Amino acid sequence: MLRSALIAASKSAGVRTLAERTPLVRPIVDRFVAGTGVDAAIHTATELTADRFVSLDHLGEDTGDRAQADATVRAYRALLARLADTGLAPRSEVSVKLSALGQAVDTDGDKIALENARLICEAAAAAGTTVTVDMEDHTTTDSTLAIVRDLRLDYPDTGAVLQAYLRRTEADCRDLSGPGSRVRLCKGAYDEPESVAFRDKSEVDKSYVRCLRVLMSGRGYPMVATHDPRLIPIARELAQRAGRGGEDYEFQMLYGIRQAEQRALAASGLRMRVYVPYGSEWFPYFMRRLGERPANLAFFARSFLTR
Ligand code: FDA
Repeated sequence: MLRSALIAASKSAGVRTLAERTPLVRPIVDRFVAGTGVDAAIHTATELTADRFVSLDHLGEDTGDRAQADATVRAYRALLARLADTGLAPRSEVSVKLSALGQAVDTDGDKIALENARLICEAAAAAGTTVTVDMEDHTTTDSTLAIVRDLRLDYPDTGAVLQAYLRRTEADCRDLSGPGSRVRLCKGAYDEPESVAFRDKSEVDKSYVRCLRVLMSGRGYPMVATHDPRLIPIARELAQRAGRGGEDYEFQMLYGIRQAEQRALAASGLRMRVYVPYGSEWFPYFMRRLGERPANLAFFARSFLTR
């Protein structure tokens, strides 16, 4: 219920303005977001890549405005040029949301998003790195997977994201477990109806394990995106049983969450990638992080009360 309320609030212009204008909110945002500009993103990537890998997300989503989508493409191309120039590209890829690239534009949204995503893939390939396409709410799943399939014709290392809370996902894992297929498996961060998604946490966790089994025993490259301390040893066990070494899959966590565990997994010889969001459009991303953990909301609420 908390998550539903926060995700609904993430679409409210009033709550957004209030959050953006409350100075005490900023330190809480900073825990999850690596600053507003590309310099801050590069600084964070430089620090993290000492022992981990990163995937950088230029924040933004849900635009119906073509000019805004074009600006997002320019921001990613500038970021990728910096990753190449600074030598960070081998350990740093980018994550993109198709709704920031025009998927939500009324006419030809899918086509616009595909063309824009292709420009980013082209810049990533030139920089010597890869792109992973984030997954958003269930109304976009078919379109997003179709666009990933198209991108893979020219850029076969384009990553897909699957969400274990969706009932369809075990089947999608089978479809996407072919040779070389990079798939990030997460639990899912949106507020989805019972008709398409498991709503009970233990059902989501069981689905996550079923999906992991499919991906680990397949021929692709699983990217295990979770902070859940029960799922991490299960993933390691399944990888070992499938004969996968430390370079044949990776763990992923979000910037600012379970950092000691991130470092410990990296130190144990496993590949650990940190998802690093940056930019001024932090509000919806931040609200999803609040919804994942009630303690985060308590900090947030306190910052309003002490204004
Ligand atoms: P769970 O929510 O059960 O949390 C397990 C533990 O992790 C908690 O007990 C707590 O200790 C810690 N934790 C989790 N979230 C926290 C938070 N916000 N603050 C503090 N501690 C927290 N989703 C999506 O729909 N589409 C996508 O493309 C992506 N992409 C993505 C990339 C990466 C690298 C990650 C790690 C996650 C995503 N997600 C996502 C988000 C994902 O779907 C999910 O909402 C969060 O990862 C939380 O789920 P956990 O698996 O961590 O488990």
